[in-house]
Amino acid sequence: MARTSSSSTSFSSYMVTVTLALLLIYTSSSSANLSTDFYDKSCPQLFGTVKSVVQSAIAEERRMGASLVRLFFHDCFVKGCDASILLEDTATFKGEQGAGPNNNSVRGYNVVAKIKSKLEKVCPGIVSCADIVVIAARDSTVLLGGPYWKVKLGRRDSKTASMNAAEKSLPSDRSSVSQLIQRFKSKGLSATDMVALSGSHTIGQTKCKTFRDRIYNETNIDKSFATMRQKMCPVATGDDNLAPLDVQTPNVFDNNYYKNLMNKKGLLHSDQVLFSGESTDSLVRTYSNNPDIFFSDFAAAMIKMGDIDPRTGSHGEIRKKCSRPN
Ligand code: HEM
Ligand SMILES: *[C@@H]1O[C@H](CO)[C@@H](O)[C@H](O)[C@H]1NC(C)=O
Ligand SMILES: *[C@@H]1O[C@H](CO)[C@@H](O)[C@H](O)[C@H]1NC(C)=O
Ligand SMILES: *[C@@H]1O[C@H](CO)[C@@H](O)[C@H](O)[C@H]1NC(C)=O
Repeated sequence: MARTSSSSTSFSSYMVTVTLALLLIYTSSSSANLSTDFYDKSCPQLFGTVKSVVQSAIAEERRMGASLVRLFFHDCFVKGCDASILLEDTATFKGEQGAGPNNNSVRGYNVVAKIKSKLEKVCPGIVSCADIVVIAARDSTVLLGGPYWKVKLGRRDSKTASMNAAEKSLPSDRSSVSQLIQRFKSKGLSATDMVALSGSHTIGQTKCKTFRDRIYNETNIDKSFATMRQKMCPVATGDDNLAPLDVQTPNVFDNNYYKNLMNKKGLLHSDQVLFSGESTDSLVRTYSNNPDIFFSDFAAAMIKMGDIDPRTGSHGEIRKKCSRPN
């Protein structure tokens, strides 16, 4: 009896070891060629160049920091971080820029183009547009007051882009909590990652047409907040009028987004559902009380989002111009 149980214990611990080893091989090979020092020898000017361009773009318009964070999200969610979103539409090519969630909404293309043209002067043909987007999102977060993390690099650029993939992958602001969780899960991200990443709505702006239904029709909204937002967002006009996603500190990366949700002052439907009596409520409470936990979960989730389906090795290319394939 004792013998049987001890041999089954050692068998199961053997299985655990094997499983862990396989998991380690699997998880490390899925981003095998991404590394934090990828360009250290080939382009030592990289980090300084990105940071200085991002810094001056933000000095000119603080919202651009938010736009660059969102650009990273919209690139990575569609077939991985491969700069597919940067490919411009032409008469014969319809890529991601015209897709529903992106058209007339995603910004920052010119900032990336400026970084790329500076890099092509100091280390031509070396740095991918995909990696520029990743670094620019990190630097923007830091410059607006958010956390720093070391970015993994070595991604290559796609040769094409898919409008259909963008429309299928990106989450809708009409989503329920379970739809949001499902959408992020399909990209290998957890519910915790989803709630932490949504915290980037502590910066940036949104158009009247995306929140009109919420401020006129929804009931889980603070009355005075709804009235204030209605002033700049009439029932039938002003579709493109902008309002800040965070009513308190729209230009600072902090945890006020979560405090707003607890006060029914989330602006998008997909924001407020995160605090609406469902599974994500406790996490919203945690982040609203502990900015440090939010910052570290946010940074970890940004790294995970950057690991979605990287193109490495001989896949893809290093574009010469970010707006078109070579
Ligand atoms: C959870 C699902 C999400 C939905 C449904 C969603 C939806 C939206 C929408 C509708 C806008 C406003 C667009 C406009 O009015 O033109 C927006 C803005 C923004 N989103 Fe999200 N988002 C989500 C998650 C994320 C994630 C994961 C990030 C980044 C980590 C992010 C970063 C941003 C930023 C920074 C802005 C402001 C951009 C600017 O001012 O240019 N969002 N989002
Ligand atoms: C994007 O928006 C522009 C201007 O509103 C519109 O003309 C164009 O048809 C839209 N693109 C797509 C692919 O729907
Ligand atoms: C409010 O909801 C009604 C009924 O669904 C809809 O017809 C109306 O357009 C909505 N109002 C706004 C401002 O979205
Ligand atoms: C990593 O790079 C090597 C050589 O550059 C390549 O053969 C291999 O396919 C790459 N690994 C992945 C996971 O892409």
